[in-house]
Amino acid sequence: MSEAYHLWEWADKKQGPYVPALVSPLEMKDNAVFVDLGCGSGYVNSYVSSHCAPAENIGIDYEAATIELAKKLNAGNGGVKWMCASAESIPLPTASVDYIVCRGVVPLAHVDTVFAEISRILRPGGRVVFLLHSWTFYFKWLSTKSLKKDAIAVLHFLLGAWFNLTGHQVQLRWGSHVIGQTWQTEARVRKMLGRKGMSLYKVVSVPEFLVYAEKNGSPSKVRTSAMSSLASEQVVH
Ligand SMILES: C[S@@+](CC[C@H](N)C(=O)[O-])C[C@H]1O[C@@H](n2cnc3c(N)ncnc32)[C@H](O)[C@@H]1O
Repeated sequence: MSEAYHLWEWADKKQGPYVPALVSPLEMKDNAVFVDLGCGSGYVNSYVSSHCAPAENIGIDYEAATIELAKKLNAGNGGVKWMCASAESIPLPTASVDYIVCRGVVPLAHVDTVFAEISRILRPGGRVVFLLHSWTFYFKWLSTKSLKKDAIAVLHFLLGAWFNLTGHQVQLRWGSHVIGQTWQTEARVRKMLGRKGMSLYKVVSVPEFLVYAEKNGSPSKVRTSAMSSLASEQVVH
């Protein structure tokens, strides 16, 4: 994802009603552990620092350059811990996180593995919001100007169709890059999260496809710290 894209998101969403509306259904309590998984520029972490009272506020992205940009944009906001890590292998302990925002990551990743990791790190009663892609998403990429862009849009659409019809995700790779994306349906996501011990409690279809889910089970009184068991080199200082 380009720096220009992240700077645009930062400028568009840092102020205004977008983030409050996104996080409000999570009903975040004080002294909780918050993670933005695939944090990009870190505008959600910035909001959580200034409007909530988290015990820990963590921004994770697998692109080192993006984490550096988020740190720069959030300079002076020392309350956020930044980690360069994959959503498919999150270096946080089991049942250590209360709230997760995961915006625009699942369609780019291995969906079942990300769901498994999120379910693992969430505490019972913990909540997550996903921004997903609906079946019409890749149509917006179609134009008569670029045959390459059209071909990629059609490829993503077909990969998404296969994924939703069969439940199996085909991931195409070019070197170390994954080039295939997917779109999601509420029914498929409900089924997959259900198998991971999570239940959907709110779905928004327009203007964005947002799914809110909760980890099943009763909240435990024993709380594992998200950061304390990590090696210090896993946190980007
Ligand atoms: C569409 S952008 C959204 C960024 C941010 N969540 C926002 O709302 O502006 C997707 C972000 O997820 C990150 N990302 C994609 N796949 C990832 C993965 N498997 N693990 C961690 N981060 C990932 C990208 O580097 C990028 O910053």
